[in-house]
Amino acid sequence: MRDVAVIGVGITKFGELWNKSFRQLTAEAGSKAILDSGVDGKDIDAMYVGSMSSGRFVGQEHIGALVADASGFSHLHIPSTRVEGACASGGLAIRQGYLSIASGMNDVVIVGGIEKMNDVGGTSATETLATAADQEWESFFGVTFPGLYAMMAKRHMYEFGTTKEQLAKVAVKNHANGVKNPNAQYQMEITVDKALNASPVADPLGLLDCSPVTDGAAAVVLCSVEKAKEFTQKPLVKIIGSGQASDTLSLHGRRSITTLDATVHAANMAYKQSNKSPSDIDFAEVHDCFTIAEICAIEDLGFVEKGKGGYAVDQNITTFDGSKPVNTSGGLKSKGHPVGATGVAQIVEVAQQLRGDAGNRQLSNPHVGLAHNVGGSGATCVIHIMEGM
Ligand code: COA
Repeated sequence: MRDVAVIGVGITKFGELWNKSFRQLTAEAGSKAILDSGVDGKDIDAMYVGSMSSGRFVGQEHIGALVADASGFSHLHIPSTRVEGACASGGLAIRQGYLSIASGMNDVVIVGGIEKMNDVGGTSATETLATAADQEWESFFGVTFPGLYAMMAKRHMYEFGTTKEQLAKVAVKNHANGVKNPNAQYQMEITVDKALNASPVADPLGLLDCSPVTDGAAAVVLCSVEKAKEFTQKPLVKIIGSGQASDTLSLHGRRSITTLDATVHAANMAYKQSNKSPSDIDFAEVHDCFTIAEICAIEDLGFVEKGKGGYAVDQNITTFDGSKPVNTSGGLKSKGHPVGATGVAQIVEVAQQLRGDAGNRQLSNPHVGLAHNVGGSGATCVIHIMEGM
């Protein structure tokens, strides 16, 4: 296996982007990443793009080729492949790009993630997202993603005494981080009171426990470490661990609905490969599609003991100044969650932090970061561990 580095990153503003097309968003993120990396179109061996449901959201399938075309590379005939794994599509695309370089097949790969969700109305967006749940056992009976995560939250409260205040504090923290991210959809501070009194969505989750419906794109350029210096003098960020795991599509089929076994298994794979343990991780971007998801994630990643996620939030362990900062970008909650782009956007944030160019949300001298991307209610999980070189 060859060593692989992130050598360029690009991201668009996240939000309701009525004045930008799907094609424009991919081109914008891709060209920023390419400019940042120093590579030229002719240097790129392959492209991978994560998108969950472009067909339903904007009526466009076949987006591997579309993204190569929109990037101005159609004349170069670069192989370009779409990767789908619900909200983990972006993370899976990163893993495919990583594997293709690690294997020796490619030297330079661009990985993009894109979703434009607001062109359809809210009801249609909810229905489209629900296609990632089990159609026969869940969606057919009216279950939505807020509903599934609400069940996980209720059970977590029952088993471990987690409170609505602790859920609210996750949202307050991520919004506080998002204020410092110019690309975040919701750059606004909120309070625990405001979160607790927000409109109910699916009990116990309210509006401010939920990630929003978002348009946006992100891209990174990956390169073999041995070739990277040919293109850039910027600090390199090496991918030192990559893990992926699956679980039942439906929530009821699982051993537990408060532990995402896919997270546990993907994390073990990534920790083993990187020779790191949870205590070696300086900071993480985790998949906080709902506030309860962040609490489960910090437990399942081994940052805190099972059941102690809420307590850890009370203790400010995961705040920007805490011992294990989580979601410095604002997370899915505040930065936004354009589902296919999210996994790539997480890699952008981790790389920027490790390079020391995260602007006014820069952590003090981090060495190792982790990105955790989940598909559906936990049927797919992909994790990357990265280190500054
Ligand atoms: N966080 C903060 N504010 C939000 C928000 C969110 N998640 N979602 C919407 N808002 C704001 C809007 O900006 C708007 O504010 P305004 O009145 O000042 O303009 C207001 O709340 C109402 O927005 P609207 O779009 O009508 O909300 P909605 O009720 O249609 O949708 C949710 C709210 C929570 C149902 C929707 O964001 C949602 O479905 N989120 C979950 C997405 C999801 O499941 N993703 C996949 C995860 S696995």
